[in-house]
Formats: sequence, structure tokens, C-alpha cells
Amino acid sequence: MLEYLKFHHIGYAVKNIESTARFYIDLGWDMSEIYLDSVQKTYIAFLTREDFPMIELVAPVDEYSPINETLKKMGVTTYHICYEVSNINDSILELRSKRFMPVFMPVEAVAMGGKKICYMMHPQVGLIELVEV
Ligand code: NI
Repeated sequence: MLEYLKFHHIGYAVKNIESTARFYIDLGWDMSEIYLDSVQKTYIAFLTREDFPMIELVAPVDEYSPINETLKKMGVTTYHICYEVSNINDSILELRSKRFMPVFMPVEAVAMGGKKICYMMHPQVGLIELVEV
């Protein structure tokens, strides 16, 4: 069973962190510092507001960033939901048995203090992210 998957954040593909964040800051959200993830070639920032889910803004560093594919297909859009797990490799195995396919093997996420993350794709659920906490 998967009840242990705990909601962590909504991932939001954006063209420019500040341009999108301005709207949320006007609504009362706080923004973290902007991190550079040189592996994914993205800028990342987190928006938080009491009693609301956390939002992650993901913007491309340059034209080689993989997030450009999402932006090209869908424009600025939410595109993944991230869940906390205690053992990422165990969760990957369990999710594979439920038709989730890993997009890549776990990597350390700079924007999350080096915690291990991975993405998995399911034909009916779409893209999810796992973060090991
Ligand atoms: Ni994320």
C-alpha cells in the first residue's frame, strides 16, 4: 500500500521565476532564495504560505534545460506532484510494480539540501516526484 506517500510540493514549470512569483507574493506567499540546479540546468524556488501546499517554481537556465520540453508543449504549467518517502529505492520498486516508470535514477537535489529525488511517470497519473527525507 502507498499510504505512506506524504504530499511535499506541486511543481510548476515557468519561464522566469520572478515573473511568476510576483503573482503569488501579491497573494501573500513567501519565496525562498533562488537555487541553481546545475544538473537539471534549472533555477528553482519554493513558495510557501500557511495552510497552503508548497509550490516549486522551475525555470530553465538556458536552451538545453530539460524543462524547456514541458514549457514548449504546455506553456507555463503545473507538471508534477512531489511526495516524501523514507526510502526512495524501496518506493521506486513498489511504484514500478504499479506501472510507474522511473524517468531517471535518484539524484541529489541542490534546491532541497542534497536530498535524493527521482521522477516517475504513470500513464494515468502522469509525472510524480519522490524525495527521500
Ligand atoms: Ni519538484
